[in-house]
Amino acid sequence: MKNFTALSDLNPFGEHLKGALALKKDHRKAATLGQGKTLGMLFFNPSLRTRLSTQKAGRLLGMEVVVMNFGSEGWQLEFGDGVVMDGGKAEHIKEAAAVLSQYCDVIAVRSFAELKNQAEDQADIVLNGFLKYAGVPVVNMESATGHPLQALADAMTIEEHKKRAQPKIVLTWAPHPRALPQAVPNSFVEMMQLMGGPTAIAHPKGYELNPELTRGIPIYHNQEEALEDADFVYVKNWSASDPYGVVLNTDPSWMVNLDKLGSAQMMHCLPVRRNVVVADDVLDSAQSLVLQQANNRTYSALYVLHQILQH
Ligand code: CP
Repeated sequence: MKNFTALSDLNPFGEHLKGALALKKDHRKAATLGQGKTLGMLFFNPSLRTRLSTQKAGRLLGMEVVVMNFGSEGWQLEFGDGVVMDGGKAEHIKEAAAVLSQYCDVIAVRSFAELKNQAEDQADIVLNGFLKYAGVPVVNMESATGHPLQALADAMTIEEHKKRAQPKIVLTWAPHPRALPQAVPNSFVEMMQLMGGPTAIAHPKGYELNPELTRGIPIYHNQEEALEDADFVYVKNWSASDPYGVVLNTDPSWMVNLDKLGSAQMMHCLPVRRNVVVADDVLDSAQSLVLQQANNRTYSALYVLHQILQH
């Protein structure tokens, strides 16, 4: 694997999932694989888990890790071709990516959707700019369209906690006061498709995800129906698709509480707004897997970097 931009880079997924779980148990023998190599982590947006878990993963493999908050510390980057750069953007991605490739052996990038223009977000300009102009492997630490490191950690968590061979996995929208990107649900849906077994998605009208990703998965506008017989309930807010990138619905009845969850286990990528997205009674219960998911972020990054360093 050269780059890790989407879950489809882990093909066949089942084999890679087993590999990631095996490496989690026995990663000490890989402690020198990354010696003499540098991981560069570039953040255009905030992070807690991704930043620290990916840093930790690089160090567990013996890598040097350098981190830059591009939004506040770097020059503003221009991504357009042939632009007359007489505005606020001081550096072009062509030079920036080439320079960073001289300092780093792997470049990891976080750049969220701006939620202003759907076509621009779908073009994933920042991640694709680094893919085009960097001479080293590139890792997606959440782009405008996907968060595959999170989805791999989520798949690992489901494997570790499932109580039957083919658990029912449900993704449900929940309310949130701010407009959030669709990257996490996109990658989670990709993962649902790859896991096999029954699935369902619940969201209010106007919140449709990319139909190419959701093809074949039953979609409900009634949360209770979707949650029936669920083994894992993944709770996540995302902004509307039509009109794009706005908060269309704030209906508090979509918040997930213990009564709705029944005996299912609850997952969320974090950060989570308590008593808006998920109720305290769930987050404070043994049915919440959010800490286990966050722990697996280290091991999903470890596996991806291990794959890249080996090839
Ligand atoms: N889940 C996740 O990516 O968390 P951060 O935004 O804190 O990195």
